[in-house]
Amino acid sequence: MVVEPVVVAVWAMLPAYVPNNAAVLVGGGRPIDGGRALPDGNRLFGDGKTWRGTAAGTAAGVAVALVLNLLEPAATGATGLGLPVFPVHAAVALALGAMLGDILASFLKRRTGRERGASFPGVDQLDFVVASLGLTLLVASEWFLATFTLPVLVVVAILTPLLHVVTNAGAYVLGLKSEPW
Ligand code: CTP
Ligand code: MG
Repeated sequence: MVVEPVVVAVWAMLPAYVPNNAAVLVGGGRPIDGGRALPDGNRLFGDGKTWRGTAAGTAAGVAVALVLNLLEPAATGATGLGLPVFPVHAAVALALGAMLGDILASFLKRRTGRERGASFPGVDQLDFVVASLGLTLLVASEWFLATFTLPVLVVVAILTPLLHVVTNAGAYVLGLKSEPW
């Protein structure tokens, strides 16, 4: 059945999808790089990566996982699907990994001379997923392997760029983001 991997993928990735959007809403204040530039003359990360956005994004992702844990018995009962419950370390890894991936993408953008807000096709859409899943594999291997089976990973690979494009375009239309990526 194709429904199960799709539902499991969305459920398991929600704690990774939410942080970037929460950072857009709450971000601002002191940049993580403190304004420092590297010898190439470009900022380490730039003004778009702030302590407040990173902390709020991570907290929002973890909060989403905890809410999903509360909903899981009812959701499993209603659908009969094997939905995952998030151990706390997996929830933190998914959310923090997403934020770290986004910061790493900004690092790469600055090294390639891209200004804050410039698009970096491919990297913009996948940075946070790769980092989120990578960190979760490292710190919660058993849970990761039980949850992210091959069909689920295939769905994540297809769905993530789509969702990313749609949510960022939506945030742009709503005036929350200054560029549609
Ligand atoms: N944001 C933040 N902290 C983060 C990530 C995002 O405060 N760790 C906030 C910033 O206000 C940022 C906005 O969310 O401007 C949009 O995020 P993003 O598109 O990732 O940043 P950009 O400003 O486009 O910068 P970059 O070119 O580095 O991606
Ligand atoms: Mg951007």
